[in-house]
Amino acid sequence: MIKIIGTGRKLPMRSVLNSELAEMVDTGDEWITSRTGIKNRYVCTEENLTDLAEGAARAALENALISAQEIEMIICATIAGDFSFPSLACCVAERLGIKCPAFDINAACSGFIYGLEIAEAFISKYTNILIIGADMMSRLIDWNDRATCVLFGDGAGACVVTRGDALKYIQSNAAPDTGMLYAKSRSGNSPFSNEKPDAGFAVMQGQDVYKFAVMSVAEEINLALAELNLSAANIDHFVLHQANSRIVDGVRSRLKQPPEKFPTNIAEYANTTAATIPILLDEMIEENRIKSGDTVMMVGFGAGMTTGTCVMVWQ
Ligand code: UT7
Repeated sequence: MIKIIGTGRKLPMRSVLNSELAEMVDTGDEWITSRTGIKNRYVCTEENLTDLAEGAARAALENALISAQEIEMIICATIAGDFSFPSLACCVAERLGIKCPAFDINAACSGFIYGLEIAEAFISKYTNILIIGADMMSRLIDWNDRATCVLFGDGAGACVVTRGDALKYIQSNAAPDTGMLYAKSRSGNSPFSNEKPDAGFAVMQGQDVYKFAVMSVAEEINLALAELNLSAANIDHFVLHQANSRIVDGVRSRLKQPPEKFPTNIAEYANTTAATIPILLDEMIEENRIKSGDTVMMVGFGAGMTTGTCVMVWQ
């Protein structure tokens, strides 16, 4: 059993308003805001993803009041590490100057919740586990494609977990569909391959993803509530993956709950993929919006199509 003892986040310095994107592609603030809730995003210029992941990790360690040397495992959820190999987790371990098992997982935007479930499985062996959700979608989107480039931002969020009984429910899942949202691997130069060259940009069937998200998130929430014998009214905060404020609102209205229970920060950061949930969690803790004893449900969804759902009673 696990509990979270510290969270942290790190964003790039450069912010990009909708109006700046409107100078690059055929879009506008009105369309982006009304369809997604996004106003701004942060995009790497000087920084790389290791910088962001390290920054989030150090902040989480500071808030957890433990030193890097006390971390016994690092799990990074990412789809855009600085290298194909080594892993982003190894890059962070090197920066922190520690030796421990360190590896990446790819569950797209559900990655942070998958990381929590993996930590839960390992916690009897390793006392303190660092989980980082970090992504740099600015590498993977086609900046000429208005359908995708307005939706994403770069960022990292992290948490330190240790043994405790905060976690009441955790379930990762994948309802396989690899055509709805994907980025192909970049082509190499194999003289033997017949593969068509691909730039590796993100491709998305937006409306299909939208429908999947609203339906599956509501479904996963109801499964968790049934398992715990709770109703939506018993949950104090629904911390959902931040892909579109209309998705959050669609789930909220299905559950018939008030907006205050569904925090969002998408206006400021856009969709930072695996980082949205830990970034939002960190902001809420910093602002003292999550109190000891509160019941927090976190739900991720993303390419795969993956979902991850967890319920914690905050300690
Ligand atoms: O982490 C998970 C990743 N992704 C998601 O969760 C995304 C889920 N999907 C969505 O959030 C929404 O489907 C979008 C925000 C992507 C799109 O919103 P929509 O209300 O479903 O719009 P649409 O795709 O139906 O497009 C409506 C119109 C189209 O023009 P026509 O065919 O009606 O003339 C698009 O070409 O809006 C056009 N459009 C744009 N216009 C201005 C698409 N992108 C833009 C844009 N600016 N950036």
